Amino acid sequence: MKNLKNHNIKNKKILFRADLNVPVVNGIITDTSRIKAIKSSIEILTSNKNKIFLLAHFGRPNGEFIEKYSLNFILSSLKDILNLDKIYFLEKFDQESVEKKINEMQLGNLCLVENIRFLKEEEKIDLNFANKMSSLFDVYVNDAFSASHRNHTSITGFPKFLPALAGNHMIKEIDSINSFLDNAKKPNMAIVGGSKISTKIKLLNNLIEQFSSVVIGGAMANTFLLANNYNLGKSLVEKNLIQEANNIQLKAKKLNCELILPIDVVCGKNIHDTNPVHRKINEILPEEMVLDIGDESTQLIKNKIINSKMILWNGPVGAFEFKPYDKATNAIANVIKLNAKKLNINTLAGGGDTLSAIKNTHAEDGFSYISNAGGAFLEWLEGNESPGVKSLKENNLS
Ligand code: 3PG
Repeated sequence: MKNLKNHNIKNKKILFRADLNVPVVNGIITDTSRIKAIKSSIEILTSNKNKIFLLAHFGRPNGEFIEKYSLNFILSSLKDILNLDKIYFLEKFDQESVEKKINEMQLGNLCLVENIRFLKEEEKIDLNFANKMSSLFDVYVNDAFSASHRNHTSITGFPKFLPALAGNHMIKEIDSINSFLDNAKKPNMAIVGGSKISTKIKLLNNLIEQFSSVVIGGAMANTFLLANNYNLGKSLVEKNLIQEANNIQLKAKKLNCELILPIDVVCGKNIHDTNPVHRKINEILPEEMVLDIGDESTQLIKNKIINSKMILWNGPVGAFEFKPYDKATNAIANVIKLNAKKLNINTLAGGGDTLSAIKNTHAEDGFSYISNAGGAFLEWLEGNESPGVKSLKENNLS
């Protein structure tokens, strides 16, 4: 794949796709890793005197201008992290405005384009638009692995008309995840959490083929417990997926993959209940909902972790945004933090919530690699190559 290390790009007008869909709480960016991710590519391109137009989305405004999704707020953090004195901002991504901005900019300058999802042409893939806008630029760079599972104009449209290269972070994500998946050392364990099996059926089916054991946590585990005839009270369950849960259990058995479900849980009356009760899985009352896995289950997972050679983690095992239901997720992050390096356990994690849990517990050091991708990470683990990565590989324009 063409990239910034094997191609020297100088004095060009560049369309650069970044993922600036950062988490924001009360106006504050709580995790800047997606901004940091593009730093290395941007440094190369600015020092090589290119004029760079940064394309990114923020939220899901569905093709119309919605003020709260404007990317304007990110300018000052971008400037700080990328270490640039000035970053231009382009409100309208149309031919006339781009031409005007290109004339205004000096060589080596960077311009952030307003949220690309304000344009109808982005999500519906508009090749006329992609062609027209590409004619204003020389090169397209994609450094947004975490958005490359989307078949959108800024991901797969522009590379149809411009020489396209992968940015440094894109290469790092692909190499790190692939090297983990391609070099399996057993026993290995995957920990999968989150609220819905429906979003993770393909993932689970794929993981049980590759891992010695798979832990299922989060509300997803409830549907498996229901399939095994436990009463789940008011817990979140997907009744229509009981058969699917059974199929996965059968397949795991056949493949000799140990599926680890909670043996005890923490319940509340609702997600805001601050007086949780501990229950064995056969003791859940009709008015209770399962909100975390219990201490015995956590201990079981901890023992498994320290006896594994590789750990893959995607998804919290409880409703971790609501204290005290973050306890088991934090405990998992902590045991990895304390043991992975010491015991030479290769660890890979990804997904927005997983990342937050790792940050909350300052467990970053325990991980061999942390992907900053959510949906894109999941789809890659399912065995799908992202449309954005495919477009880069297929690009033969020069
Ligand atoms: C993400 O946050 O996972 C990416 O930026 C993609 O965002 P999307 O799910 O809104 O396409």
